[in-house]
Amino acid sequence: MQVIKYMFQPHGDDRGQLISLEEYNDIPFRIKRVYFMYDTAEGVVRGHHAHKSLEQILVCVHGSCKIHLDNGKETKEVALEKPYEGLYISHDMWREMYDFSPDAVLMVFASEIYDEKDYIRDYNEFVSFVNQKR
Ligand code: TYD
Repeated sequence: MQVIKYMFQPHGDDRGQLISLEEYNDIPFRIKRVYFMYDTAEGVVRGHHAHKSLEQILVCVHGSCKIHLDNGKETKEVALEKPYEGLYISHDMWREMYDFSPDAVLMVFASEIYDEKDYIRDYNEFVSFVNQKR
């Protein structure tokens, strides 16, 4: 299972760093929604779902967290620790986010607006869904 991590180009100078993300250039899809998680309580695991068609890029713009990825066959754990790292998550991928540092801000760039019908929130249903496609 391939993990796609983007290393965004910081435009740094002696004043500090700046990262700019443009759809199709830095983010490989049209950005229809941006949301972010912060003040995540200690020990919390978020996510526990997959999407039927949504694509996302996750950026931990402050602090750190870990992402568990599962394509129904294999799993990977990815750490996001720098604001210039972006983790691409395709559709048909189960994800869980955990180990949030107290200062973590996890920003998500999404290819679609929020649509509960695009979610698969039951793990067994997810495994059947991806196996049907194979
Ligand atoms: P939830 O799906 O539980 O988040 P996570 O995947 O991180 O566990 O979403 C939390 C709440 O926020 C839930 O009531 C749905 C709502 N929500 C929106 O209204 N818009 C959004 O874009 C997202 C991602 C969630």
